[in-house]
Amino acid sequence: MKTIYSNKDKVLFTPGPLTTSSTVKQAMLTDLGSRDIAFIEIVRQIRQKLLEIGSCSPDVYTVVPMQGSGTFGIEAVVSSTIPPDGKLLVIANGAYGERIAKIANVLNINCYVLRGVEEKTPDLDEINKVLKTNLGFTHVAVVHCETTTGIINPIQEIGGIVRDFNCKFFVDAMSSFGAVPINLYDCDIDYLVSSSNKCFEGVPGFSFVIAKTEALEKTQGYARSLSLDLFSQWQGLERDGQFRFTPPTHALVSFHQALIELEAEGGVSGRALRYRKNHEILVDGMKDIGFELYLQPANRSYIITSFISPNHLNFDFCSFYQHLSNRGYLIYPGKVSNANCFRIGSIGYLFKLDIHALLSAVQDTLTEMQIDLSGI
Ligand SMILES: Cc1ncc(COP(=O)(O)O)c(C=O)c1O
Repeated sequence: MKTIYSNKDKVLFTPGPLTTSSTVKQAMLTDLGSRDIAFIEIVRQIRQKLLEIGSCSPDVYTVVPMQGSGTFGIEAVVSSTIPPDGKLLVIANGAYGERIAKIANVLNINCYVLRGVEEKTPDLDEINKVLKTNLGFTHVAVVHCETTTGIINPIQEIGGIVRDFNCKFFVDAMSSFGAVPINLYDCDIDYLVSSSNKCFEGVPGFSFVIAKTEALEKTQGYARSLSLDLFSQWQGLERDGQFRFTPPTHALVSFHQALIELEAEGGVSGRALRYRKNHEILVDGMKDIGFELYLQPANRSYIITSFISPNHLNFDFCSFYQHLSNRGYLIYPGKVSNANCFRIGSIGYLFKLDIHALLSAVQDTLTEMQIDLSGI
C-alpha cells in the first residue's frame, strides 16, 4: 500500500462529494467521544439549526440524523414510515425518483411509479388523476432537484395535491436543501431528506430527515430494518441526545463548522446567490464555447447542469473528463436515459474564479482534442 492522493485537491464540479472550505476540513482534526457532552451539544445544535433552515417550529418538526449517505436516509424513511398495508406513489422524472421506487420494491412495499419524461416537470393533472382513481395511496414521494438532469420539481404544488388526498408527503431534497429555499409547512412536507455533503458543503458521512413529529410518532413498529429504524433513532436522540450506533463524529463536527459558514454567507439566500452566479457564468461560458444544454431554461436549477455531448468525431467523454482531471478539474458523467449528456455542478466551495478557470480548461481541452464547436 502507498498513498494515492496528493496534497493538491482537485476542484469538484460534481453533485457531491464537493469541494469544501479548508476550515470545514480542519474541523475534522478533532477526536470526540460519541457519548461525550461536547459531541452531544454539537448534535443538538445541528438538529436545531436544520429546523431553522427549513423554517420549522420545533413544536411541529424534528430532525433525525442517520449514519450513511443520502440513500440511507431515504431508505430509513421508506422502510420505517410506511405501514405494512401502506401504498406508496412515487412521482419519478429521473434516476433518483426511480431509486425511491427501487427501495420500496426491495422492501416489498406496495408501490406505483408515475413516470414522466426526464426533461419536464411532473404533470400535476396526472398526479391528481392517479390519486383519485387508485384509491389506497398512503404516501407520496418526489425528488425536489432531480440531480439526474438538474430539473427542479414543483414540490409546493405537489404538496397541495397530496394534502387533498390525505397522504403523507415525502421529499428527497438531497441536492437542493441548504441552497434552494424550502418552507416545509408551505409545501405540506411530512418527511424531507438531505445530506451533509451537498449544499451544506460538509463532508460525506450522514444524511438527515426533517420529520413532522405528529407523523413520525405514529410510525412505531413499522421499521423493516434495525439500523434504519427512523422512529428508534429519533427516540434515542430525544432520550439522551445520542446516536444509537457509532456516529460519524468527524463528519458531524465538520458539518457544525459548515453550518457556521452557511450562516456567515447569509444563510440559504446568500448561498443561493453564489450558486446562481456560478451557474450563470457556467452556462454563458459553455454556450459561448458551443455546447448545448439538455433542459429548457425554465426547468434548470442552479445546482447542476446537463450539457449535451457534442456530436463530433473527436469527442469522447472519458478522454474529455481525463484531460480536465489532469488540469485539476473534475466534472460528472451524464445520467439521463434519452440523450448523451455530461453534467457540471455549481455547488460546493466554488466561486466565480473557479468557474472561469474551468471554462478556460474546457476550451484548452477541446483545442487539444482538436474539436471546434463554434461552427456546429
Ligand atoms: C436527489 C438525490 N437523491 C439521492 C441521492 C443519493 O445520495 P447518496 O449518493 O449520498 O446516497 C443523490 C445523490 O446525488 C441525489 O442527488
